[in-house]
Amino acid sequence: MFNKKTIKDMDVDGKRILMTVDFNVPVDDDGKVLDDYRIRQTLPTIQYLVEKQCKIVLIGHLGRPKTMPDPKTSFRHVAERLSELLGVNVQFSEDCIGEKAKVVADHLEPGMVALFENVRYHEGEEANDDDFAKQLIEASGAEIFVQDGFGTAHRKYASYDAVTHFGLPAVAGFLLEKEVDKITSVMENPERPLMVIVGGAKISDKIEILKRFIEIADSVAVVGALANTFLLAQGHSVGASLAEAESVPIANEIIEAAREKARNSRFSFYVPRDVVVAKDVAPESPTRIVDLSHNTWADITTYPKKPEDSAFTVADDEKILDVGPISASYIAGMIRMSKTLIWNGTAGVTEVKGLSGAQDPFSHGTKILVEAMLGEPGEQDHPYVVVGGGDTVGYVESQDGLREKLGHVSTGGGASLELMSGKELTGVAVLEDK
Ligand code: 3PG
Repeated sequence: MFNKKTIKDMDVDGKRILMTVDFNVPVDDDGKVLDDYRIRQTLPTIQYLVEKQCKIVLIGHLGRPKTMPDPKTSFRHVAERLSELLGVNVQFSEDCIGEKAKVVADHLEPGMVALFENVRYHEGEEANDDDFAKQLIEASGAEIFVQDGFGTAHRKYASYDAVTHFGLPAVAGFLLEKEVDKITSVMENPERPLMVIVGGAKISDKIEILKRFIEIADSVAVVGALANTFLLAQGHSVGASLAEAESVPIANEIIEAAREKARNSRFSFYVPRDVVVAKDVAPESPTRIVDLSHNTWADITTYPKKPEDSAFTVADDEKILDVGPISASYIAGMIRMSKTLIWNGTAGVTEVKGLSGAQDPFSHGTKILVEAMLGEPGEQDHPYVVVGGGDTVGYVESQDGLREKLGHVSTGGGASLELMSGKELTGVAVLEDK
């Protein structure tokens, strides 16, 4: 349950609002928005404040700018997209503090919206500097601070933390409330069986979350580059794949935690046993399936035991780019048996598109998992899926109509993982209690 005040608990009528948003969206080299999911998810809060005739100043960041001005990290085109989505002309200020910003904010009529330029153009943002935060408040003329930037709410930065040091009433927007509610309720009170699919690149970033998932879930499957480190821990060669050899002890620790749980309860922890490999992460690179299960069960049934045989080994110059068909089907079966699924990580490198009309070469595993999530046509009984993590959301967004069929697609990557691992997010902690 979300226990912080929201804009519904405040008299916001006609007030000047400073609102933090996460508009850190994919853009092209000119800064044009490629995917507006995060912006669209913030609309209910903005629209509510517009209806209440507030004067609204939005702040946020885009990318991790090293230089300024830089079209790739400027909010100029984000302001245009927001204008299109809201159907009003959003005022853009070239700076988020100082006279320019103040003039833009002071000229807002009731129900109008301004977007200030990227806060990360100032060092004070990441330094969580009080003086910078004070300048943000002064430029906006705010009477109330609204926090709706869920995706960055785990950062202790000025626009999330220091901005609340000056006595402004600080409350949540609808997106922050929805995200925290949905994610904490699947973690604390899921309909069981609860399954988790975890991918991503680095195991070292995910130790705590993996341990938490093992604690609370009924089954966990690791996929993507993360799974490669587990394969190394199991003694397999992963060739030129992305993996963290130095983190094998961590993988062993996680495997031990999973074994311990499985000793005492019905629990499964699944590491892929066959993989799709290619020499290059490119659509024209020939692929093959490598069966890594020779040392478990397949050797005594289908195959002669020949570990040195290339059918069972990833070559030194090959990269694992997707799960194989046996693993995809196995994980799909696990999905079909679950009632709730937390999905954080695609099974393969889904960003690589197929050549002229061909299927995407490393997306087959993920497609099989998605089919299982959606169930057969007409079938009511499929799991409630919560999607967290930037890359998975990117995949979901790239598939027509998929987002609408899944339970909750989070706007947060790191933020949703931190929340799932049981940490309180800075941007939530600082808000007024109900
Ligand atoms: C994200 O995309 O995860 C958030 O916008 C946070 O961005 P950051 O990792 O640059 O702080």
